[in-house]
Order: sequence, then structure tokens, then C-alpha cells
Amino acid sequence: MSTFVVVGLQWGDEGKGKITDVLSAKSDYVVRYQGGNNAGHTVYVGADKFVLHLLPSGVLQCRGKCIIGNGVVVDPSAFLREIQSIEERGLKTDHVFISRRAHIIMPYHILYDTYREEAAGHLSIGTTKRGIGPCYEDKVARHGIRAIDLLNPQVLKEKLEENISIKNAIFEKLYNKPPMDFEEIYRQFLHYGDILKDRIVDTELELNHAIDQGQNVLFEGAQALMLDIDFGTYPYVTSSSPSTGGVCVGAGVPPTKLQNLIGVAKAYCTRVGNGPFVTELNNEIGDKIRETGFEFGATTGRPRRCGWLDLVALKHACMINGITHLVITKLDVLSGFDKIQVCTAYKTEDDRIIDYFTSSTTKLDLYEPIYEELDGWQEDITGINSFDQLPEKAQKYIQFIENYLGIEVYLVSVGPDRSQNIIRKELF
Ligand code: GDP
Ligand code: IMO
Ligand code: MG
Repeated sequence: MSTFVVVGLQWGDEGKGKITDVLSAKSDYVVRYQGGNNAGHTVYVGADKFVLHLLPSGVLQCRGKCIIGNGVVVDPSAFLREIQSIEERGLKTDHVFISRRAHIIMPYHILYDTYREEAAGHLSIGTTKRGIGPCYEDKVARHGIRAIDLLNPQVLKEKLEENISIKNAIFEKLYNKPPMDFEEIYRQFLHYGDILKDRIVDTELELNHAIDQGQNVLFEGAQALMLDIDFGTYPYVTSSSPSTGGVCVGAGVPPTKLQNLIGVAKAYCTRVGNGPFVTELNNEIGDKIRETGFEFGATTGRPRRCGWLDLVALKHACMINGITHLVITKLDVLSGFDKIQVCTAYKTEDDRIIDYFTSSTTKLDLYEPIYEELDGWQEDITGINSFDQLPEKAQKYIQFIENYLGIEVYLVSVGPDRSQNIIRKELF
């Protein structure tokens, strides 16, 4: 039994796609278990850039199957566009399957997401407007449409009629927007069912068998712990559980089968969308990180907010996820700073010093970071692939993180390409 879970430990965009791609070369299955096409996972293969939104990043080099698990919300048109763009680049996609239990993002979810964000004004969450939240809401309300429903015209008709009548009432009365046409959506989604029927399968049995037979199964998280619906900066979060715990409910694999829990964090922090960010740098240092790290959203193109590494938040993320292996990405982006700050505690609004994360999002906004200052390094490290060859100060930076968290950094990423890694211990 060999299972691997790759999760984000900050606010997303840590480089999960790159790490998943690297690990997928030896994987028999690569599985997405939550989120949807709000994700943007970038993989560079030489000069070729791939941005995966819904397909597991393993699609490029996994030798077995890529699964979109039951916990994912699937926009069929986004799925088909992505399949097409991958195939146009000469790659196969016949190894990609969708769980029959996965919920389907419908056009009204995307509209609802958009109308609600617009109406919220300064209280908006800054969602990706991909319909993620409204789709999960319908799932929990028990009137969502699942992938399996696309294969049954009668069930689809009944569910769609019910959903459209509810959404039309909301759109017209609450947002003064035009109603949607049942016929058009029904025809379109029956068509999706027809095109996708061979890819819509039961996945939990196969995954459990594969694990029992000793195959390598890799779970790829989207978003990250600070965007987790329970443990992130609620309500400025996404609507799923990106944590390692999310694998159990989002793929149907029990906790007893999860082994290597790999947490990915950047050497600094970024966030897209609204919500508290204690170490945010609204100054030239933040701008420098954004420019050097090319910190612009892979899904929406929005500039990412940038700041120093927040070890208080990272410790919280490692605890909730039970991280066994740490990956630090984008260390190369920190080359060229004289001094680097690392947040090791927070100063509260009433001047207390705390070193744990809080559930109060409003209070978090008032906290100030307490920094430890470390020496920076000037060298270009993008060609280095052994830890000993890193500048001593870069080594010290990694060791500082390890000591604070009490977890080993098993891989340091020093560039976007597949090959730009310092692997300190082979996982498999
Ligand atoms: P994900 O959502 O966690 O998969 O991350 P994204 O793909 O949204 O954002 C990470 C960005 O950083 C992508 O453009 C990657 O190509 C890039 N990247 C990943 N690792 C490194 C690294 O070590 N150094 C640099 N410079 N870029 C990296
Ligand atoms: P990857 O997988 C960064 C953010 C949005 C918004 C909040 C809610 O690439 O790391 P949603 O559309 O999910 O309802 O938006 O979550 N968000 C992400 N931020 N990376 C992501 O994915 C994200 N997916 C959602 O910006 O703040
Ligand atoms: Mg991303």
C-alpha cells in the first residue's frame, strides 16, 4: 500500500501542480478529491506551459489513470475544453475518468456566484466566479445534480426543473436578473452526458482495490488549508475541504490508507481574493516578490497579494493536515534580499503575543506580525539540485522552517521546471 497526498498549506498557488506532476511519473493513479476549476495548477515541461484547472496534474505523465473524485465539482464544458486543449498538444486523455458521484456545476451556479459577488460589494469574497460555492450548496441541500444524473434523461429532467424554478425565483426577485431557459440547459447537459458517458464511472471501489494491491495512488489537493471551509479564514475561503482529511470524503478512501502526507508551502506567502493576511506587504518588497515570483493568478489572472512567510499559519496548516513531508517551493524568488523576515508570532489587538492561529477572522485583521530577521543570499539558485550546494544562508532559512515546525523539508523547489528540485529524500 503506497498512498501520497499533496496539499497546499497557505492560500493556494504553492506549486501543488508542479509537485504532483513530478510525483505522478511513478504513480498508477492521480486523483483530485475536492474543488473544481477554480484551481489553476501550472506545470512547465521545458518551454511548454500547461495550466490544469480540473484535470489532475498527473494527466501529463501518469502511467495509469487520472480520476476526478466524488468530492470534486465538475463543470462539463470546462472539462471538455481542457481535454481538447491537452489533446491538441498531442497528449492522450483516455485515462481520465469522473466519479459518478461528483456534482455538476450548472450554468445557474456560475450566474449565482457572479450575481452574489457583485451584490456583496466590499463584503465580497473575491471568488473565481466558477460557480463552486453554489454547486456545493446544492450538494449539501440535497438537490444537486450528479455526474450519474447526466446519463438518465428522466432524472436529469426532474432535477433540472426543480433547480431552475428555485434559481429563477432567486435571480428575478433578489437580483432583478432574467430567468433561465429550461429547454436549452436540458438539451446541453444531455449532450454532455452523451459525450462523457464512457468517462463517468464508479471510482471508490477501484481506488481502494488499487491501494490494497500496493499500487501508487497520489491525491492532488486544490486550494489550500487557509482556504479550507472549516479551518481557513472563514468566510474568506472556498467551499470544500482541501485538507488531507478531505481525501477520505472526497475520494472514498479511509484515513487508515493514507500514508505520505505532503504539504506544499511557498518560501513566502501569497493570497488571491479577499480576507485577512497578517504578513501582507503593501510596499515595494511585496511588489518585488510579485514581479520576481510572477505572482498572478493562474485561473483569473489577478495579481496575487504577497507577504513574508507566516509560520504561525503554516504550523496550523501542518497540524490540521498531519503533514509528514514538507515541500518548500519558490526559494529562488527570495534570492537577492539582504534580509528576510519570517513571522513567528502575532501581536494581538490588546498587545498579547500569541503563536497559534485563531478562528476569529475579524481579530486576525487586527493582528500584527512578529518577525525574526534572517540573512538573505544573493546567488541565483535555480540550477542547484543538492542541498549542500545551496548558499549557507538559504540552507539556514530552510532549517529555520524545519525547526519551527518540527517537520523535515524533503523537497526544495528552485524553479518552475520539473527538473528544478532539490530532493533530500526519495519518497518512492
Ligand atoms: P498551484 O495552484 O499550487 O499548482 O500553483 P500555481 O501553478 O497556481 O502557482 C505556482 C506558480 O509558481 C506556477 O507558475 C509555477 O510554474 C511556479 N513555480 C512552482 N514552483 C516554483 C519554483 O520553485 N520557483 C519558481 N520561480 N516558480 C515556481
Ligand atoms: P489552486 O488550486 C488560490 C480563492 C479565491 C477566493 C476564494 C473562494 O490553484 O491553489 P471560490 O471560487 O473557490 O469560491 O473562491 O478562494 N481560490 C484560490 N486561490 N488558488 C486557488 O486554487 C484558489 N481557488 C479558489 O480567490 O478568494
Ligand atoms: Mg494555482
